[in-house]
Amino acid sequence: MTEPAFRLAPDATLLTPLRVGATAAANRIFMAPLTRSRAQSDGTPSDLAAEYYSQRAGAGIIISEATAVCEQANGAYMNTPGIYTDRHQAVWAEIASAVHAKGGKMFVQLWHVGRMAHPEISGFDVVAPSAIAADAVTHTPSGKQQLTVPRALRIDEIESIVGQFRAAARRAVDAGMDGVEIHSANGYLLHEFLSDVVNVRTDGYGGSPQNRARFTAEVVEAVAAEIGADRVGVRISPGGSAGDMQENDTVSAYEALLNRIAGLQIAYLHVLIDPSSQTFGALRALWSGTLVLNTGRDTGTDFCQLESLADWGAASAVAVGRTWLANPDLIDRLVLGAELNEPDVSTFYASGPAGYIDYPTLDELAEPQTA
Ligand SMILES: Cc1cc2nc3c(=O)[nH]c(=O)nc-3n(C[C@H](O)[C@H](O)[C@H](O)COP(=O)(O)O)c2cc1C
Repeated sequence: MTEPAFRLAPDATLLTPLRVGATAAANRIFMAPLTRSRAQSDGTPSDLAAEYYSQRAGAGIIISEATAVCEQANGAYMNTPGIYTDRHQAVWAEIASAVHAKGGKMFVQLWHVGRMAHPEISGFDVVAPSAIAADAVTHTPSGKQQLTVPRALRIDEIESIVGQFRAAARRAVDAGMDGVEIHSANGYLLHEFLSDVVNVRTDGYGGSPQNRARFTAEVVEAVAAEIGADRVGVRISPGGSAGDMQENDTVSAYEALLNRIAGLQIAYLHVLIDPSSQTFGALRALWSGTLVLNTGRDTGTDFCQLESLADWGAASAVAVGRTWLANPDLIDRLVLGAELNEPDVSTFYASGPAGYIDYPTLDELAEPQTA
């Protein structure tokens, strides 16, 4: 256990409600998307997922773990979920009900992993904007393996992936979810298209910033047309190096994206970035809608800093990952200034309940131990 960096005053900006498109969030401390690798092998979410997520219903909005829009979209890691069959949708509906029963709100994060897939996991060709491999390894059924050189997507395939995002979003809303977040961050397919290094296409999806932004923009537009823009968020991580991602220009394609989608009035833009960076300054100035900020892997969670960022309007809300993972009653702890549970890295991607649904709340810690 660690001391919290900060105790939130009852009138803290982070504790105030926020209208996020069609969704009324009770506070501005959202749960960041966290892959937990506990899904069944056919992509059906874990039987424990409803309990895991509903334990964290105190988040203003829970953003789910990244979820594949079709079978081929999966395959970066083992046991990650999908939302493209009736069976998947039925379990997501149980999760939505469990979160709503506790007063929470939830969006499903939709992804296609692109060149981060390994054929031994997905069983499909690995696809990307261009035939440039990520210099990274992943755990496959036969052990750790280097990622392979992907095949460049054809234009008809890009169009069909747009349709798969659209269909997955429809399933999410039909399952009772409050909305979806389009995953265009962290080195996966849509981020790969935005990059001026990994995307060397010479057709309408490569070259200029507008062309590199086109795939993400088309997905956002298609999903907004299907479920309503007020239920759509989009996540970007300009300049982020996850997945061996490289970008020489960390602004132009994102500017083009934000300019193109500005008129849609989507629910939120979610940016994973160091808020002191020039890139954040440039993009923040462009975006007048709701902005969810995740300050990122290396900076840690400093609630004093997050409150200041929300207070002066740099962020409408913040997304917090590992701290929510380890503290199902995070809001109570912040209000009380209580100690926080430490996240256990060894169980982030393990199977089963340990490190998933057994992080204690303050109430559970206070109960006399009977064992
Ligand atoms: C275990 C783990 C799983 C993650 N899975 C996802 C994911 O599925 N989608 C995503 O966009 N980011 C994912 N991330 C990144 C987090 O959303 C977040 O950006 C990162 O953890 C930094 O925030 P934090 O310091 O509050 O944890 C993951 C991070 C961790 C630690």
